[in-house]
Amino acid sequence: MTTGADAAARVLRGRTLSFADDPRVVGADQAMQSHEDGAVAVGQEGRILWHGAFGDLPQQHAGAPCEHHRDAIILPGLIDAHVHFPQHRMLAAPAHDLLEWLDRFAFPEEARYASEEHAAAAAESFLDKLVSHGTTSALVFSTVHGQAADCLFRAALRRGLCLTTGATMMDRNAPGAVTQGAHASARESAALIASWHGVERLRYALTVRFAITSSDAQLRLAGELLADHPGCLLHTHLSESAAEIEMVERLFPWSQDYTDVYARFGLVGEGSVFAHGIHLSERECQALHDAGSMVVHCPTSNAFLGSGLFDIEHLCAARRPVRVGIASDIGGGTSYSLLQTLAEAYKIARLKGCSFSALDGFYLATLGNARGLRLDGEIGALDAGRWADVVVLDPKATPVLAARHELSESLEDTLFALMMLGDDRAVRAVYVRGEKVSGRERSDG
Ligand code: GUN
Ligand code: ZN
Repeated sequence: MTTGADAAARVLRGRTLSFADDPRVVGADQAMQSHEDGAVAVGQEGRILWHGAFGDLPQQHAGAPCEHHRDAIILPGLIDAHVHFPQHRMLAAPAHDLLEWLDRFAFPEEARYASEEHAAAAAESFLDKLVSHGTTSALVFSTVHGQAADCLFRAALRRGLCLTTGATMMDRNAPGAVTQGAHASARESAALIASWHGVERLRYALTVRFAITSSDAQLRLAGELLADHPGCLLHTHLSESAAEIEMVERLFPWSQDYTDVYARFGLVGEGSVFAHGIHLSERECQALHDAGSMVVHCPTSNAFLGSGLFDIEHLCAARRPVRVGIASDIGGGTSYSLLQTLAEAYKIARLKGCSFSALDGFYLATLGNARGLRLDGEIGALDAGRWADVVVLDPKATPVLAARHELSESLEDTLFALMMLGDDRAVRAVYVRGEKVSGRERSDG
């Protein structure tokens, strides 16, 4: 099916894989769209015109330049649903727990983003890392400094990326260099929304760091802004570590639980994205399900900081499934690679006595995250009309992967090996809006 009579600007040929729905819900056969010798036709504007078997390529695209990715898998670009741009160089900073890690490493590093020069250089370096790992879209934490979010928006705009970020709102329980008065931070957020929300592929997320670093007044202002700008997302952390949860109980003695703190201020809704959600009660899961919010699993971060084991089966229970996403959570997380992130998610699921298929994983990192970030229809699948943000993965990229590939018996098995053993070396090429922005190897013309 084509969306118009226009000829494609280019055709990407190879094994294609995309999802129409969640394999956990509708089953693998219904969910998966894959062609062994497939093709994706990309239009002049960078949107997908057609996806199907190469042999069925519509005549009007037959003359377009064709990049043939032999023995590789063409997927929608990966989406990171929670990552911290100002922590892009402070990975692997060991601490006893989350709160100590924030005080010792994260807050001092983030204070450096008061410098626009520093933030501008960091934005480029951060986006380079995302793209080289096959991540073409992200929901990103910045710092409290408006100019840092500005720098990231500008850098993403220049690259044509689909990116959502916002200035972090923090007004207590952190050093002065990374806090700002409640009203000043609300004004900063409103100004950034006016400048950036809806510009090309950029969107704004009201970004409350977590309940601990916001006063009631700041949470109330964030809720008001969200109500005034329903197209914006709400991005924060929830129920990550035991000490954090205890402190939330002390700071908000009137609340039923951690989720209730956000709910009281109008912050739990369809466009709300909560990182972690490791220790949620049944009541909280029900509330998050009812609201249609997304909880984002950050497995490498949870293992590294010792925060706990995410219970994917509990979250996804059929009686009240909570929408779940997947993310690197750099720099609490230890890898930019969403393949490595999925590997850790698989191991955590095993430690919880459940499992996690490669199809579940690749669905989460593409269409699942797109849906949770309200970008469904724009990215996350290879359907006609969506942006041609694409990653090409090489199942034989390293000697270890190549050896394992000799034993692969199916596409699902190949994907499982990629998920468990792959990283940025498996990323053969990356396209943003149909333009190649990163590549290890030239495809055949
Ligand atoms: N909770 C509040 N801030 C942070 C952060 O920067 N990283 C993680 N992992 N959790 C948080
Ligand atoms: Zn985080």
